[in-house]
Parts: sequence; structure tokens; C-alpha cells
Amino acid sequence: MTARRLSWLITGASSGLGQSIATAALQAGHKVIGTTRNVSQAERLNPTFAEVGGIWMQLDPAQKDAYDQFSKVAKEHDIDVLVNCAGYAFVGGVEDISEEELRAQMEVNFYGPFRTVQACLPVMRAKSFGHVVLISSGAGFIARPGRCAYSASKFAIEAVHEALVHEVKSLGIKVLIVEPGAFRTQFSTRIMTSATHASTGGISEPYKGSELEKMVNLSSGHTEIPVHLLRGCPDKAGREIVKAVDDGYDYLRMILGPDCVAAMDQKIGSLQHDLDATRKIAMSTDIDTNEKV
Ligand SMILES: *[C@@H]1O[C@H](CO)[C@@H](O)[C@H](O)[C@H]1NC(C)=O
Ligand SMILES: *[C@@H]1O[C@H](CO)[C@@H](O)[C@H](O)[C@H]1NC(C)=O
Repeated sequence: MTARRLSWLITGASSGLGQSIATAALQAGHKVIGTTRNVSQAERLNPTFAEVGGIWMQLDPAQKDAYDQFSKVAKEHDIDVLVNCAGYAFVGGVEDISEEELRAQMEVNFYGPFRTVQACLPVMRAKSFGHVVLISSGAGFIARPGRCAYSASKFAIEAVHEALVHEVKSLGIKVLIVEPGAFRTQFSTRIMTSATHASTGGISEPYKGSELEKMVNLSSGHTEIPVHLLRGCPDKAGREIVKAVDDGYDYLRMILGPDCVAAMDQKIGSLQHDLDATRKIAMSTDIDTNEKV
């Protein structure tokens, strides 16, 4: 590959998709700064990362002072590509989640990436070049039972990127939202469930036996997530994301995995149904043209 050598900043680079993207970017000859909350653990999990030129930084976007820290790193390393991977999923019902748990989810999945994007934009603006990449999820467009908090955080941060793509179009900065389906990563170890209802498996009595309980069961270790459901290969995903940045892309959202394609088709179908079902009403609610305002 003869693409220009770029400076990548990847949050949550020590595991999961972040790890695969970091590996693919290094293999493609790029400079990679990986952030992690625990460098010694990251080094242990990724023994070859530093050997091939990767640089670890102990940074947590979810901390209140992350803007200043990321701003410093963005300037020092003249960042071209920001990839936000760090995150976790809370799984639990609307009635069962506490406000504290909801805020914690937003702090990590929404405010965290928001701070890093704000911190990197000035560096990218100054050179009229940059890529802002968000690793979202199918849950960033589709909300399933038990995913109220996770989907809320992902919908919200996707909205930021959807607004941003228009704001920075003329400044030479590109935006990419990646929506993976179920990939074979350790992400399932970063799932939280309701503390209030911990003694009853993360679910309150009225929801026993429901779809919600099925989702919570899948996530809380009561049932192993069947491995055949985790079909996505993280390394393939990593390579496709690096390739998109190197070769260019003309879309905002990159869908990854046949499971996510099917879910997306279904969601778009249900949106189309709602639009068709309410089109007549929608078209009838303007003020009458001869009505005085
Ligand atoms: C970092 O990870 C190591 C294990 O690799 C652990 O011993 C240590 O306590 C962790 N540090 C923090 C601050 O969590
Ligand atoms: C969830 O797991 C519990 C404990 O194993 C089990 O009793 C319950 O039937 C499961 N619920 C559903 C909806 O599968």
C-alpha cells in the first residue's frame, strides 16, 4: 500500500475492535497512539504493539479533564485520524436502571468521545485534513429491549457525528460512523447490569420471563452467548476501517456484519412504514394558506 503515513489516535486500543484497528493501522505503516486506562495491562495483552512502533498513553476520555489531556496529545503527535472505540454496554430495563448507572453510561459512551473529538478538531482544522471515526454499533440506530441506556448513548453520539459531518465538510475533515453487529471480541466482559436488582439476575419481578429477561440473561452470564451468534471477525473489520481511511469513502455509516445488515433493513422498513402510515396526517397539519398568522 502506498497511502500516506498518518498519525492515528485510538481510544480503547488494548482490546476488542480498537485492538484490531490499531494492529491494522500499524500493519499499513501508520503511526498509532493507543489510549488505555491501564498501560501495564495493555502491554501484557498486546506484547507486540510497542515492538512495531505503537505508543501507549494512559488516558481515559471519561474523565472530566480529558479535553486538556487529549488536546495536548493531538498537538504533540499532529493527529490525522481519531478513532473512538472505548466504551461498554449497560444492559437492563427502563424501570430497573438507576439514574447513576444511566449517567455513568453516558459519561463513557457519549461525553468521552465528545471530549476527544473537540480536542482533535483544532489540529485537523489547522491542516485542513482529518478523519473523525466513531466505533458505534448497530445499537446506535436500533434500540432493543434492555438496551435503553446503551442505545441512548450511541444514538446521542451518532447525532453529534451526523451534525459534525456537515459542519466540517468544507474544512477538509471527514467523519465516519462504524456500526458493527456481533463481533467475536471480549466486549461481553464489559457489560454492566442493574446493581439494584443484582440479587435477581439484573431484572425486577414484573419482567421475569419477558424479552427483556432474555436479553439480560444473555448479557449477565446466566446463559453463555452462543458463539455462533458472534460471527464477526474483528481483524477483518479493523482492516476494512483502515482501508476506508486510506482509500477514501463516500458514506457516513459503515455497516459491518450480515446480522447488522438484516437489523438495519428491518429498522429502515419500520421507519418507512411509519412514514407511509402517517404521511397523510403529516401533510395536513400546515396552517391554511389563507389563514392570518
Ligand atoms: C493494571 O493492570 C494490572 C494487571 O495487568 C493490575 O495488576 C493493576 O492493578 C492495574 N492497575 C490499575 C490502576 O487498575
Ligand atoms: C433467565 O435465566 C434464569 C436463570 O437461569 C432462568 O430461570 C430464566 O428462565 C431465564 N429467562 C429467560 C426469559 O430465558
